[in-house]
Amino acid sequence: MNRRNFLAKLTHFFSLALGALIALPVFRFLLESLKEQSDSSWVSISSADANIATDEFVQISFKRLVQNGWTRQLVEELVWVRKKADGSFIVFNPHCTHLGCAFGWNSNSKEFQCPCHGGKFDRDGKRIAGPPPRPLDRYETKVENNVLKIGKLMKA
Ligand code: FES
Repeated sequence: MNRRNFLAKLTHFFSLALGALIALPVFRFLLESLKEQSDSSWVSISSADANIATDEFVQISFKRLVQNGWTRQLVEELVWVRKKADGSFIVFNPHCTHLGCAFGWNSNSKEFQCPCHGGKFDRDGKRIAGPPPRPLDRYETKVENNVLKIGKLMKA
């Protein structure tokens, strides 16, 4: 090996080492943020024993940690929650599936009513009137250690 080859190989080796030094922290950051996202896909919203009457809807607010670029912030969100007779829960996203207006529960007529364009949904989230193109969006739910958690938002 002559001097020129030796210097070329040495330069190549240091280039690779420098590239690895730069890339490793970036990969570590990306892996950690992916892990955090998967860990935080379930959010605690309430005690499963909370004052939620069976078969009646209540609105619950909770805070979710949201990653926005390089920053994280707690964002307050709302959901509509119904405890079924078997102890399981139905949790609806509070935005109408037409154009996203906030809708309300009418406990007299037992239906959700959207004030924007007259959309109506039954207690299972099925559209019964107005322009909404699909049923209400609902979250995956589970109860762990007596805490009600929501997961992914499912669109019908
Ligand atoms: S946004 Fe609800 S009916 Fe249009």
